[in-house]
Amino acid sequence: AAIKKYQFDVAVSNVSRLCHAKPIVVVNGRFPGPTIYAREGDRIIVNVTNHAQYNMTIHWHGVKQLRNGWADGPAYITQCPIQTGSTYAYDFNVTGQRGTLWWHAHILWLRATVHGAIVIMPPAGVPYPFPQPDQEAELILGEWWNADVEVIERQGNGLGLPPNTSDAHTINGKPGPLFPCPEKHTYVLEVDHSKTYLLRIINAALNDDLFFAIAGHNMMVVEIDATYVKPFSTATVVVAPGQTTNVLVRADQPPGHYFIAARSFMDVPLPVDNKTAIAVFQYKGTAAAAGTIPAMPRLPAPNDTTFVADFQDKLRSLKPVNVPASVDRRLFYTIGMGVNPCPTCANKTRLVGSLNNITFVMPEVALLQAHYNHVRGVYRLDFPDRPTKAFNYTGAPLTANLGTSQGTRLGRLAFNSTVELVLQDTNLLMVESHPFHLHGYNFFVVGRGIGNFDPANDPAQFNLIDPPERNTVAVPTGGWTAIRFRANNPGVWFVHCHLEVHTTWGLKMAFLVEDGDGPDESVLPPPTDLPPC
Ligand code: C2O
Repeated sequence: AAIKKYQFDVAVSNVSRLCHAKPIVVVNGRFPGPTIYAREGDRIIVNVTNHAQYNMTIHWHGVKQLRNGWADGPAYITQCPIQTGSTYAYDFNVTGQRGTLWWHAHILWLRATVHGAIVIMPPAGVPYPFPQPDQEAELILGEWWNADVEVIERQGNGLGLPPNTSDAHTINGKPGPLFPCPEKHTYVLEVDHSKTYLLRIINAALNDDLFFAIAGHNMMVVEIDATYVKPFSTATVVVAPGQTTNVLVRADQPPGHYFIAARSFMDVPLPVDNKTAIAVFQYKGTAAAAGTIPAMPRLPAPNDTTFVADFQDKLRSLKPVNVPASVDRRLFYTIGMGVNPCPTCANKTRLVGSLNNITFVMPEVALLQAHYNHVRGVYRLDFPDRPTKAFNYTGAPLTANLGTSQGTRLGRLAFNSTVELVLQDTNLLMVESHPFHLHGYNFFVVGRGIGNFDPANDPAQFNLIDPPERNTVAVPTGGWTAIRFRANNPGVWFVHCHLEVHTTWGLKMAFLVEDGDGPDESVLPPPTDLPPC
């Protein structure tokens, strides 16, 4: 295995989109930032130097960080931020992982512009378990705001301001021809006829599930969240914030220009869709026919939940997987939005997100450090296994449940125990699809349904043979998702909705996984350059 070293200089840079320049925080002057390339088993060292005015951290989304939460990155969960003018070296291995992951800032809303791809190839000489592509490309789907960075940031402070929605979606940082100044800001993927391309699609958008399609070309889905799936063909891919999807596409159509589109999947679509990002799938040496516009792909309707459910049903692990068959610990968490009093807020209330009616309060020192150093009083280990107030989760709203309690409460998991977590959406304030991300682990998505989870009958339908294995799962609107994993990675691991606005409002918690008794079953000592709190 090799050691791959990268230097990330985080700094403010003037970037122009939609005919409008503004200062944004980027890595190495690039938006999106640089791709990290490695092979399975490599050690990666990223030296992050912070020249920006914001204290910040970087998270390597999907890297398991076995015993090594010090390199995970979520601010105040595993580390305190890298102060302006300071450097921290994220040092980690990608053992037993290959595929597409990504990295992003993990504090405030900086990940809007501070993000990039992680490409982990199989070990040298090991082929992909699908037809070998001729070429590969990363396609990072994101969002662009015309507003000043500070205005976007301010929404990140949890005051419950109305959503500051973006002005455009982007593909590799570019919104494309539906927006002003397209000549400079359209991503073009040049292809050779008859060649096969592996596209690594990453949803780095802050707040939107996305549909992705290429006019005139079907895609073969082969990998999600860096795990192989049984290949299937589709005209449209659905990818939730935090997720990645690898597809094979063959350039086998009449040579020309074809539009690639990324558009929101929304339960409650906006009356006008004014954010669709367009890129071009362009056969080399061809010109767009004069005076014509390349064809748009036909995407499902913005609220086509049936298409999304069918797509998710097709996701199966390539081979039978090792799902925990017996469960030591059953957890049931309700996802809710609520309203709490806020004496200092303009209208005296603020919007909050909650799990089991608890709004997570960020600590001021890092939880992993507090755990490792036995510092008391930073968190409580009493996150309830199920909601204290049972109700009809997807039926008529109970206004009594709109208020939440607040606290830095963690769920304790015994080392190596097998865990089942059912995430239940509720109709508290708003029903929405929530992409849930678990740090430190992959998990198996064993079941999913609409309405209230039925513990007596639903588990009989669980797929324990070839469920998809991922790090981020979309909990369906007004429904539930069940995941299973083995708690074999000691440390403190963040669990949160990957819609940034919800995370900010407190839709998050953390697991504390105890050390095991074996020699290699405890949290590693912290690196000496870990940022001070
Ligand atoms: Cu991709 Cu906690 O994040």
